[in-house]
Amino acid sequence: MRIAVYPGSFDPFTNGHLDILERSLKMFDKLIVAVLINPNKNSLFASSKRIEMIEKVSAKMENVEVSQFDGLLVDFCKKVGACSVIRGLRAVSDYEYELQLATINKQLAPDLETIFLMSSAHCSFLSSSIVKEIARYGGNIEPLVPANVGEELKKVFNTKFTLKKKPA
Ligand code: PNS
Repeated sequence: MRIAVYPGSFDPFTNGHLDILERSLKMFDKLIVAVLINPNKNSLFASSKRIEMIEKVSAKMENVEVSQFDGLLVDFCKKVGACSVIRGLRAVSDYEYELQLATINKQLAPDLETIFLMSSAHCSFLSSSIVKEIARYGGNIEPLVPANVGEELKKVFNTKFTLKKKPA
């Protein structure tokens, strides 16, 4: 069975991630979306919430599993028996970081291949950070994220907005 891991912070999962997930699914028997738990990173959503959102998005997809990991990605891949890591590439600016990750991972685990998929044109400038910024200022994020993720973003930012506006 050919298993691939699609790792990331997914804070939150966007339509860009969905694009990569759906396309890579065609190449493997099973895809594990692996959410990085990084206590040092200031995440908007807890890893449990990020997992819950991705599980909802992928509920109807066969052969997709959502998991979390900490430590080295190569160790997680070994544990789950994956032969490949999937990463999406958007603009040239992604290249240097991705080259670094792929090269280090290759050194740590020579049998593990990193496979890059070029983002579809409509997602090529989409990122979790941009989505959060638009949501924070009340912009329309609906075309950028799955519906359930949009709902969660609205909850987070509406709450903050309401609290700020309350009289002291
Ligand atoms: O969505 P992101 O934040 O770009 O994903 C980055 C991720 C999770 C793929 C990367 O940070 C990672 O693999 N972290 C785990 C630690 C690790 O294995 N680092 C690579 C060797 S330095």
